[in-house]
Amino acid sequence: MKKFKKIKKIKKVKKTILDVSEVAGYLWQRGWAERNAGNISVNIDDYIDKDFTVDLSQYAYFSLEKSFPALGGKVFFVTGTGKRMRDIARKPLKNALIIKLNDKGDGYYIISHKKTVDNFAPTSELPTHLAIHEKLILPGSKNRVVMHTHANELAALTQIKEFNNEKILNKILFGMHPEAMIYIPKGIGFVEYALPGTIDIALKTIDMIDKYDVVLWEKHGVFAVGEDVMETFDMIDILAKSAKIYFMCKSAGFEPEGLSDDELEELIREYGN
Ligand code: 13P
Ligand code: ZN
Repeated sequence: MKKFKKIKKIKKVKKTILDVSEVAGYLWQRGWAERNAGNISVNIDDYIDKDFTVDLSQYAYFSLEKSFPALGGKVFFVTGTGKRMRDIARKPLKNALIIKLNDKGDGYYIISHKKTVDNFAPTSELPTHLAIHEKLILPGSKNRVVMHTHANELAALTQIKEFNNEKILNKILFGMHPEAMIYIPKGIGFVEYALPGTIDIALKTIDMIDKYDVVLWEKHGVFAVGEDVMETFDMIDILAKSAKIYFMCKSAGFEPEGLSDDELEELIREYGN
């Protein structure tokens, strides 16, 4: 029975890696992943047997600028910095890695690769990923996936000054297609521009993540959290579809009508939170 449980857990790690590689391919196909754009992390700690021990002295150690005490000892599958989504799709283990945080949560070991592997580190957006994961492990959340991509249609919306406002943004996105309200009833949060890869943008993002599962980074891209890799991708895909319909109407020379207030209220009654 114990052995069976172990196999089941290993299968979950394998499935996570396969799902990340499949979605990495979609991000590339969508045109959202120029060069190394985007990153994905999954908290796989529950899939690692508690009696599984590693000799951490065998692995490369890196300290973190900010500590994440609640994540001490936890294990994550995370895409590598500078790695292309199209390469992650083909060879996930050569372009992504497994890290284990130290007990204090102020550093991590790369436990998927030998110490000698050069130029291989987790995404530069690790501070934001870990800051979000620290929130996601709190009771009440089943989310364990964090995904960042440069979804063109959503990033383009943030280039319009008047849309850098959550109320307006959500009215547009909900109004372009009913599925947006059905699958992302909380809507989308907005994070004003900050330097990528910094603690500053991480802190701004976690302020939003209590309220939303998807947040837009001004003039950059989108961050989403979900229970599994596919579902997290789906939320971004649906919102990008709404933004695309908006721009299609505009480029055809007319202002999209959007769902009426009554239609939106009906959706909120049925699906809103
Ligand atoms: P990484 O290659 O470090 O993951 O960075 C990509 C990115 O999108 C930064 O915001
Ligand atoms: Zn980015």
